[in-house]
Amino acid sequence: MEEKIIVSNNGPLEGTVKIGGAKNSALPIIAASLLGTEPIILEDVPKLNDVSVFLQVLEHLGSKVEYLDERTIKIDSSNLTSYVTPFDLMSKMRASFLVMGPLLARFGITKTSLPGGCAIGMRPVDLHLKGFKALGAEIVSDSTKIEAKTENGLKGTVLYLDFPSVGATQNIMMAASMAEGETVIENPAKEPEIVDLANFLNKLGGDVKGAGTSTIRIKGVEKLGGTTHPIIPDRIEAATYMVGAAMTKGDVMIENCIVSHISPIIAKLREVGCEVFDMEDEDKVRVVGKGKKLIGANIKTLPYPGFPTDVQAQFMALLSICEGQSTVTETVFENRFMHVDELLKMGAIIATEGKEAQIAGVPKLRGAEVKATDLRAGAALILAGLTAEGETKIGETYHIYRGYDDIIGKLRGLGAKIDRIEE
Ligand code: EPU
Repeated sequence: MEEKIIVSNNGPLEGTVKIGGAKNSALPIIAASLLGTEPIILEDVPKLNDVSVFLQVLEHLGSKVEYLDERTIKIDSSNLTSYVTPFDLMSKMRASFLVMGPLLARFGITKTSLPGGCAIGMRPVDLHLKGFKALGAEIVSDSTKIEAKTENGLKGTVLYLDFPSVGATQNIMMAASMAEGETVIENPAKEPEIVDLANFLNKLGGDVKGAGTSTIRIKGVEKLGGTTHPIIPDRIEAATYMVGAAMTKGDVMIENCIVSHISPIIAKLREVGCEVFDMEDEDKVRVVGKGKKLIGANIKTLPYPGFPTDVQAQFMALLSICEGQSTVTETVFENRFMHVDELLKMGAIIATEGKEAQIAGVPKLRGAEVKATDLRAGAALILAGLTAEGETKIGETYHIYRGYDDIIGKLRGLGAKIDRIEE
């Protein structure tokens, strides 16, 4: 038996959707909770499979985890018992590599498995390890596992990241937060999730400055405590529903989003012909595709504040029904066009070469049997299915639940015909 999602064309999405806490902020902050020696309460934690796997990793390491309600979690890491991660859980999720920085900071040693390659590219961890080494750790690794240790403690340093990797910036920030002296990260990632992590570390008693800019300065402290912290809204979830409003020629109010975090999406939706009302003061944005002619556009993914790679697949689904030619250039990951083959099954006209996809818009897609090749590809296929003629059946749905909290309920709330079946 395999679960599938069935989507039918049912006209415009209409109404209001409320965005939840960001997966990509929640995961590093859960990792950082290993640093706190007093209880931590995290609010607006999205209900996702990735979050529960991550919490199991923490429990294995000795943290006490308690759900205060569905999306509020209490974590107590005052008595950690292990610096060796559970390899089976780690292999399920690349983001779990983020426990390495905090464990190295707390124990001066950590052992973990290497995160494998995954659907969207090799995704090495060389920049994370370069950072740990610069902080004075010795790294011993073979093809499957890694040990990082330091005899005399981590020492602050100045380091430059060759690429503004989100995960490497987070891992280094966490390790440096308890190192001796000051660490300066040049060319760090500037994503809002980096700023949320810095705010969280500061609330624990850390001293992190410059997150969101090109230089982050971290003064190490001896001990971090506890706090209550709400996770920032998920800009990728917001963008996904915005693209859905455009594709179905609907009219959707997106509530609980930080408008400045989605400015590239707003700009590109306007370029394809939608009307977007930006209500920054109320943390809302309204996307109107109703009565609009959708015209092709070019997008190029880049680190923040550029167009996010995590919205590339959804936008490609949109561009495939926009009039004229569009180009999508993926510069962040080397293999993030897996959804192209699935969109082709639905009648899209797309040709890829290297980092570029050329799209010739068609008036309508058609329903097909497809599979979610990764999380965002899965979201793109759901959106494509909402506008396609006939029925779309999506397999490998577990990818989608890794990152979208109640996507079916939220889309139904906007009038979508979407269901889960066992086959
Ligand atoms: N990279 C290296 N060496 C490293 C680290 C990264 O070469 O040591 C390369 C990667 O191979 C990739 C690029 O740098 O080509 C970007 O990777 P980055 O480290 O920035 O990404 P990440 O931290 O692994 C996070 C999100 C991803 C999101 C990317 C980029 C989390 C848990 N994951 O991954 O989210 O695509 O940043 O914004 O925060 C998703 O939500 O669908 C998702 C994949």
